[in-house]
Amino acid sequence: MKTVSVIYPGSFDPLTNGHLDLIERGSALFGRLVVAILRNPEKQPLFSVAERREMLEELVKQRRWKNVEVDTFEGLLVDYAARRKAKAVLRGIRAISDYEYELQMALLNRKLQPKLETIFLMPALSHSFVSSRLVREIAQLGGSVKHLVPDVVEKRLREKLDHP
Ligand code: PNS
Repeated sequence: MKTVSVIYPGSFDPLTNGHLDLIERGSALFGRLVVAILRNPEKQPLFSVAERREMLEELVKQRRWKNVEVDTFEGLLVDYAARRKAKAVLRGIRAISDYEYELQMALLNRKLQPKLETIFLMPALSHSFVSSRLVREIAQLGGSVKHLVPDVVEKRLREKLDHP
């Protein structure tokens, strides 16, 4: 697995401690891990792609993950994976509720590109209830997300939402 190049795709709007946990596990397992932020022109995100990239790059630097790269992509994941010569896609599964959607995506990606595998890892149980959507909601309503996201994300959320 140490020679394998793997893509960890997602929206990361914003990055949570669960995502960070998965990057750490992926970085320890694979030769190269590309964290790929989806550029989705149809979605109105809270953080721009550039902002998300900045936060991720700062964290990768902080954690000294030498084999982790941050990138962005548009279009089909299988096409991006082919361009990056990646053998597999990494996704996290927190609970059974994630499974159906993840299975559907993994099997459709396999239909599109049979050679591309999807690898699932579970984040630590303590992160299993954290999602970007709920982090956004809590932060937008003025609640604290201090233990749900990395410090750099928490600070950016406060700045963006103008909360003290
Ligand atoms: O963090 P998310 O929003 O759950 O990530 C979803 C993501 C980015 C992995 C998925 O939407 C994706 O791969 N989009 C790229 C377009 C694509 O390939 N769609 C077909 C999936 S079967």
